[in-house]
Amino acid sequence: MKDVLGYIENNSERYLKELTEFLAIPSVSNNPENAGDIRRCAEWVAEHLRSIGIPDVRIMATPGHPVVYGAWLDAPGKPTVLIYGHYDVQPPEPLELWTSPPFEATVRGEDLFARGASDDKGQVFIHLKAIEAMLRTTGTLPVNVKFIIEGEEEIGSEHLDEFVKAQAELLKADLVLVSDTSMFARDVPSICYGLRGLAYMQIDLVGPKSDLHSGSYGGSILNPIQALAEIIAKLHDGKGRITIPGFYDDVRALTKKERDAYKKLPWNDRRYAKDLGVKQLYGETGFTTLERLWARPTLECNGIWGGYTGEGAKTVLPSKASAKISMRLVPDQSSKKVSALFTKFIRKIAPPGVTVTVQSLHGGEPAITPIDSPGVRAAYAALEKGFGKKPLYQREGGSIPIVVQFKKLLKIDTVLLGFGLPDENAHAPDEFLHLPNFFGGIRTAAHFLNELPAYMKKGG
Ligand code: BES
Ligand code: ZN
Repeated sequence: MKDVLGYIENNSERYLKELTEFLAIPSVSNNPENAGDIRRCAEWVAEHLRSIGIPDVRIMATPGHPVVYGAWLDAPGKPTVLIYGHYDVQPPEPLELWTSPPFEATVRGEDLFARGASDDKGQVFIHLKAIEAMLRTTGTLPVNVKFIIEGEEEIGSEHLDEFVKAQAELLKADLVLVSDTSMFARDVPSICYGLRGLAYMQIDLVGPKSDLHSGSYGGSILNPIQALAEIIAKLHDGKGRITIPGFYDDVRALTKKERDAYKKLPWNDRRYAKDLGVKQLYGETGFTTLERLWARPTLECNGIWGGYTGEGAKTVLPSKASAKISMRLVPDQSSKKVSALFTKFIRKIAPPGVTVTVQSLHGGEPAITPIDSPGVRAAYAALEKGFGKKPLYQREGGSIPIVVQFKKLLKIDTVLLGFGLPDENAHAPDEFLHLPNFFGGIRTAAHFLNELPAYMKKGG
């Protein structure tokens, strides 16, 4: 491993230059205008895999954006690791809030700023560079490796289930390795063992058939914006609990062991509030902030629109009002069931003066992964070597919908080995990757592959 680590160190500048090229492609998955960039990005990943010595690389079509598959299988009898990540990114808007352009990666201090730097191109690249270092210095790998790098994660991985189902044989592996989560804090390497699920909804309200003069008509009919505000206000009670009947029915209670473990983590509510620029935290009473973030479901309004929002005043009684509302889910909630409960409740509480339509935009299931598996033990050892510190176990509030499907369809567990930081502005302006974690991640990824056979007690 000494040579491998030396290679990583000696090539660090080139690694960054290549990552900058990867980050320059605006592979925004939710915007049809970026379809060409998505394609170009898939080709870039495929080409890069070939260039580091992966012999079998394919760009595989789906009804949506393509999946890049790669395989190096020259370690017969050794375990096979399936590395999953995504090359698509969130839209960069609002552009004016970026300090440097989102697709021109820029180093400031120890951080590299660009859309996708942390989520998830930078983290995907960690594995490519670890494998390059191993192949270039030793000519071989201690395990077999397969890659599946998708282009629709940020829009719910809509076509990936079908893909995994259809390609189950090709994707056969002993475990999945995902780097698309965060460390607990700077200098605190972590293994994530739980993710929340998601049910994303849109509600559209229509009142009068067209916009009306608010003087001539105000007082005679219900304003759809008022109706929408009343609906949204009814979705939480005074204790921060969600009021949808049945919403909490399938929520798995936190164990005493977990609650005790979370209490021991270095956490400070006051500092957290200050960092976020809020005067006070908010959430379901009876739970700590970490419990609410990791193990309790939520309902958030993501966007709301209707009526006149331009400069100055316009006296209008609008015809329409809409909102996008998402719910983060925890085991054992199901996104389909929660979407149905949401729809039923909205229809029930919608006032008679408006017509309401509810649609489900996408969903994903919550996940808990085992922490006593050989993969997790190897990850623990690898993090300790890569960062020189003992890692801790944590859950996270975000979602990676395919994790549960890997278990269901391929019958394999996922190890969530994330190198992001919670404050790296993922999905926001000025997203960045903390470079010490990029290089620590590359070292850890190499150690992981190196350690795994011994922990799997298979061929090693
Ligand atoms: N990398 C994130 C997932 C994540 C976020 C893990 C925060 C841990 C903490 C991922 O790319 C993502 O943003 N996923 C979406 C999924 C959704 C569109 C189904 C999310 O969580 O909003
Ligand atoms: Zn991601």
